[in-house]
Amino acid sequence: MQLSKWLFAQFYDVLNSVVESKVLPYRRMTAGRCEGHVLEIGAGTGANLSVLQHTSSITAVEPDRHMRRKLLSTARKHNVVVNISSCKGEGLSFPDDHFDSVFTTLVLCMVEDVEAVISEAYRVLKPGGRFYFYEHVVSKAPIGKGLQKLLNPFWRWATTGCHLHRDIKRHLHGSQFQTVNLREFSLSLGVVIRIPNIVGYAVK
Ligand SMILES: C[S@@+](CC[C@H](N)C(=O)[O-])C[C@H]1O[C@@H](n2cnc3c(N)ncnc32)[C@H](O)[C@@H]1O
Repeated sequence: MQLSKWLFAQFYDVLNSVVESKVLPYRRMTAGRCEGHVLEIGAGTGANLSVLQHTSSITAVEPDRHMRRKLLSTARKHNVVVNISSCKGEGLSFPDDHFDSVFTTLVLCMVEDVEAVISEAYRVLKPGGRFYFYEHVVSKAPIGKGLQKLLNPFWRWATTGCHLHRDIKRHLHGSQFQTVNLREFSLSLGVVIRIPNIVGYAVK
């Protein structure tokens, strides 16, 4: 497992470069809109650091040590100070009502317990604070969902744990957040491949 995690961290940016130009607008709609004291859950290699703009402080949670090493080097490259924590999104090591904004991009597909991570995001946000999210989700079309289920075992193995068909929208609507504003759309990769995505924010 450690070797596959190491490989995933080493090649994440290379693999992501295939889709990064399509993903960037959604990084801007989420990370780019965060303000004040900001927490990123599952920061990976630090792909969002270049779009964070209105921050007083940046805290990043990343449980994978290979990813943390990459994150640190990206932070140095962009000359940004990031407080990096190794805790998991399911058990954040921060007090209640602490951050102005919390965000995840392409992370809720990978965590062990989606509900626990959303609940922790809620807990550490100040009242009125926003939880921004950009995630790929389960397909609404039966054929699409069937394909996701079929590919999921291979995909989980190749990505060290990403689930293709999580109903993240349902988890968000069932959470404690007062309002959830989200947009559903398909990220088109060529003519054939369309990946169902959601982007938006929830208010505490
Ligand atoms: C697909 S990567 C996305 C990285 C980055 N957010 C991006 O947009 O490029 C998912 C990240 O979530 C992290 N992760 C996995 N399980 C987690 C958990 N339970 N809590 C927090 N982060 C987690 C992984 O280590 C990985 O770095």
